[in-house]
Amino acid sequence: MSSTSLNATSPYRLFKVATVAGLISLIVAFFWFSSLNNCPVIEHSERPNTKSNNSVTHAPEDKPILLLWYWPEDFRWDLNDCKTIFNVDCCLITADRSLYNNADAVLLYHKSISWDLSNLPPSPRPPFQKWIWFNLESPTNTRKKPGLENLFNHTLSYRKDADIFTRLHLTVSKKPNEDFVIPQKDKLVCWIVSNNAAGTGVGTRNSFYQEFSKHIQVHMFGKAYAKFLNHDEYYPTIASCKFYLSFENSIHRDYITEKLNGPLSVGTVPVVLGPPRKNYENFIPGDAFIHVNDFPDAKSLAEYLLQLDKDDAAYRKYFNWRKHLTPRRHLLQQQEFVLPICHACQYIATHREYKEVHDLYEWYFN
Ligand SMILES: *[C@@H]1O[C@H](CO)[C@@H](O)[C@H](O)[C@H]1NC(C)=O
Ligand SMILES: *[C@@H]1O[C@H](CO)[C@@H](O)[C@H](O)[C@H]1NC(C)=O
Repeated sequence: MSSTSLNATSPYRLFKVATVAGLISLIVAFFWFSSLNNCPVIEHSERPNTKSNNSVTHAPEDKPILLLWYWPEDFRWDLNDCKTIFNVDCCLITADRSLYNNADAVLLYHKSISWDLSNLPPSPRPPFQKWIWFNLESPTNTRKKPGLENLFNHTLSYRKDADIFTRLHLTVSKKPNEDFVIPQKDKLVCWIVSNNAAGTGVGTRNSFYQEFSKHIQVHMFGKAYAKFLNHDEYYPTIASCKFYLSFENSIHRDYITEKLNGPLSVGTVPVVLGPPRKNYENFIPGDAFIHVNDFPDAKSLAEYLLQLDKDDAAYRKYFNWRKHLTPRRHLLQQQEFVLPICHACQYIATHREYKEVHDLYEWYFN
């Protein structure tokens, strides 16, 4: 995910906007991530819960230690973010390798593992310790490094069938949301692209785009088009477009990334290219997006968008779902791994059971 995810951002300019972006994401996240709040520890205690005199409780520092062995993509963020942003406070998250022998779980980011495995944690591995395979890239962009097949205890992935499944969900509210207003639009179709490297699977989306752009104007942004966007421009830019091309770099089950969440969260209609419509509908309602496969070809999709441009009532229908569902903005760039790591923390705090992962690649690639 990471190589393509923050299309919008040039890392060089990060510092300029860090304060504003940080503050905004902090506020937004604080109010929207409340569902992550609690981490009940499910334990099967042998000890009968008879009349206790209150001293048979756990020591306050009984939190599991989650060790981040590598900083993914070399991004740096505050390891207290889980606590301060998401109110997840059920483990001690650290990147201090000197705590290795005491760590309950170790997060190993797949891309950072060297081909000869020489940068894995040292032997012997503490017998109680769980290793977590951490990968957010699709199979197309995941290298099969030999020797990892039977090494882990848990998987952390965007895949629904991973042990630790990480994704931003829409939240359902019983009380209807009344305050949503479609933002002002001055562009019809936009697309932010940072990765255009052949070999990352982008062929499908590029050939679709080639044909599509013959019939409709697309405003292009991002690294690949020499139109850098700063952090603070990412959400406003997407919001200023009626439609946003949420084209995944490669097509795989459940591989539905922040490219979808960006437009959904700001009030723009996503036009998706990725796994089949049904797969999207596992996570978001069918009337919240337009799928390229709903049309026989790129030309008819373009015609449909041009027609919606002239029909406000029809366009507005793409926002009906917001009445009882609330999207959330994802954290950008340096903070993009915060949420998966909070999910890992919640998981290890609530899953003490024994487990081994066998034939990792068999599961991931087939
Ligand atoms: C409560 O338990 C502690 C530790 O086991 C013990 O020292 C103490 O005497 C107990 N108090 C009562 C009132 O039973
Ligand atoms: C973790 O997985 C490894 C490899 O499958 C296994 O040898 C080890 O016993 C497991 N440990 C725990 C604590 O689950």
